[in-house]
Amino acid sequence: MLNKLLLIAALLPLGVFAQERQRQNFDEGWKFHLGNAADPHRDFNYSIGNILAKTGDAANTAIKLDFDDRDWANVALPHDWAVGLSFEHVRNGDVDSHGYHAVGALFPENSIGWYRKAFIPDRKDSGKRFVLQFDGIFRDSKVWINNCYLGGHFSGYSGSSYDITDFLRFNAKNVIVVRVDASQYEGWFYEGAGIYRHAWMNVVNNMHLALNGGVFVHTHDGQVTIETKVERGEGVAGPATVSAYIVDRKGAVVARGEGNAGGAGMVLNVSQPVLWTLDNPYLYRAIVLLRSEGRTMDSVNVRFGIRTVTVDADKGLLLNGVPVKIHGVCCHQDHAGVGSALPDYLQYYRIGLLKEMGVNAYRSSHNAPTPELLDACDSLGMLVLDETRLLNSGAEYGADFEQQLLRDRNHPSIFMWSIGNEEWMIQTSNTGKLIAQHQILRQQELDPTRTCTYAANVGNVFHGVNEVIPVRGFNYNLGGLDGYRRDHPHQPIMGTEVASTVSTRGIYIKDTVNAYVPDYDSVAPPWASTAEYWWRIAADREWFMGGFAWTGFDYRGEPTPFRWPDINSHFGIMDMCGFPKTVYYYYQSWWTDKDVLHIAPNWNRSGKEEGKPMAVWVNSNADNVELFLNGKALGKKEMPRNGHLEWMVNYAPGKLEAVAYKKGRKITAMVETTGEPYRIVVTPSKNSLTADGEDAIVYNCSVVDKQGREVPDAQNILHFTMRGGGAIIGVGNGDPSSHEPDQVSGDGWQRHLFNGHCQVIVRATVNPGGNGVFSATGDGLLPAQAEVKLQGVN
Ligand code: GAL
Repeated sequence: MLNKLLLIAALLPLGVFAQERQRQNFDEGWKFHLGNAADPHRDFNYSIGNILAKTGDAANTAIKLDFDDRDWANVALPHDWAVGLSFEHVRNGDVDSHGYHAVGALFPENSIGWYRKAFIPDRKDSGKRFVLQFDGIFRDSKVWINNCYLGGHFSGYSGSSYDITDFLRFNAKNVIVVRVDASQYEGWFYEGAGIYRHAWMNVVNNMHLALNGGVFVHTHDGQVTIETKVERGEGVAGPATVSAYIVDRKGAVVARGEGNAGGAGMVLNVSQPVLWTLDNPYLYRAIVLLRSEGRTMDSVNVRFGIRTVTVDADKGLLLNGVPVKIHGVCCHQDHAGVGSALPDYLQYYRIGLLKEMGVNAYRSSHNAPTPELLDACDSLGMLVLDETRLLNSGAEYGADFEQQLLRDRNHPSIFMWSIGNEEWMIQTSNTGKLIAQHQILRQQELDPTRTCTYAANVGNVFHGVNEVIPVRGFNYNLGGLDGYRRDHPHQPIMGTEVASTVSTRGIYIKDTVNAYVPDYDSVAPPWASTAEYWWRIAADREWFMGGFAWTGFDYRGEPTPFRWPDINSHFGIMDMCGFPKTVYYYYQSWWTDKDVLHIAPNWNRSGKEEGKPMAVWVNSNADNVELFLNGKALGKKEMPRNGHLEWMVNYAPGKLEAVAYKKGRKITAMVETTGEPYRIVVTPSKNSLTADGEDAIVYNCSVVDKQGREVPDAQNILHFTMRGGGAIIGVGNGDPSSHEPDQVSGDGWQRHLFNGHCQVIVRATVNPGGNGVFSATGDGLLPAQAEVKLQGVN
């Protein structure tokens, strides 16, 4: 076998390694300045400079090639300027649902952002096509190059690209200018502002595989079908052929094929394929070469997985023929410290945390995710429900959905598309049905290998979208589930959105002043439910595919059930930093095989709740649990399947211990009253940092007492520095009512611990080597340092 592979590898033509296509990262070297939506003079004369009369006339605006931007800020993408804005207590539903950051139409001075980037293209590339690509700009962006208008893009959740070839000046300075208008909101949650995803410069030959959707790889057992779409510049005729090589993880070529470009595509057989599964997300690569008249014109390298996804009305979801109950979470895209501008590493970090909890599926609510989120899900083994922003089949949103389908369809993690969420103005009408039909057709045409759903917040209601949607999605309203199933037994059903439990990490009593909700699985808004309510329903019904809990992480905006001073949601199973709340252990108990035994609350209640009865919750997947306070038995209880246990315990400082038995094996857990904070502990998320200007590392900080016990209610303020290798780009602590800045300019990085934890995110700089040193200090505390090894770029 090995010999055979080597033989095939030897057959790889040199063209496979040719760099016919360049995909240059365009994140570095941007200048940034706020404009003004209400005052043209403070918006660099935009709208009073007559810039549309003649091509290339940028009038006296910041669009001008030779505009002096030296006093603008230097920024790198991804960049979200909203996260650095102050919080303003404005009584406006949209401002509060966006987390009270001073952005949006009520804050014209903060809602326009100007970006400029200079670059010098090399004359050796003349004759090629240059396509500038933005993966996401929030929002309503307009783009110019060298004084000339290129176009604009409306939605903040879809990408945009511009062929700039005709406007380029070789071996000279070229300037791209982007005006971003974040005055209008698109959602009802924090959305950020700016070029918050990557930018790229694609340099391709005139004849090339289409930049979006040029190669479609899909699989059926070991059969890999590769479809291609060719784009030719003017005057480029000639026949085109494609050659494809399938390469496994070790780099061996396991299949190859040749065919004509375009058309039905070619089928390659991989014998004994390693399937993509949740535990072993094995990825192959398809290297596809486009040739014409003896020359390699383009080469594309696509990661894909070999797996089958089936949706069955009785058995639910099957991955490679094996039923998989969806243990899902919905997520928005922002994270502590960085807003919506996440370094790629954070995508992996977050998906890793979700996997640890037992999550197997991610719903990108309510918009197309950034491509790197999908890469992380492919690599780590996480299914994705890929959702589009609006249920709208009009030209603009229709095109956005098409772009999303073409962009994402090679990702093995995507198991289904979602054409929208809770469109209550139209979802039960004929209009909703017609729009849905149109979007379903689009989906089936561009990706016939998958199906789609729609997140409907109606119970047993069929009229409208639900009449035509292939998979019925239930948002809440599970009271209507059994009736709907009875009436429509052939339509598969999934919980597109469930739970919406609200809790604040490490807080155990309701606090209306600080807007905190107890950290148990006990409070949910009227439309929603606890985790235990929905999961018991899901677990008992084979035909119910499972569901997506709202949400995996807290996010900015939607302060619920309180408003100001609360600035972020309480729906997360983990907080904004990814620190687990109590409900995390409920899911982990029933969604994993790990030994879970967790006691809430923490036992640092001295001075607050002495002698008072405290609700103690134990989450576990053991068979039974016995509780002891300072050695005194408080009773043994059987653990109900998919449930939790509760005791009322009169608080006394000391040790609260749980002793559990799981299939005869003893498991123990303990919470105990600690001493005062004494020493800082820093936990880095990894040991090395790639010095490429893009990598990132997370430092989680806590404090311990003299005996080395973590102090779970510590609220100390800590100060941070990073020397060598990286720069701090954001801090957070998961406190939904904290108005401390997530970002500072220059030095002075600091953050309070919130119930024992805070987080610092560091982005790598471009650095030759050595070590980076992260330090955390605090008054009256022994400091901590963590060294990180800097690795060169391969
Ligand atoms: C749903 C909605 C989500 C979020 C959630 C809060 O109705 O789809 O975006 O608002 O409620 O519970």
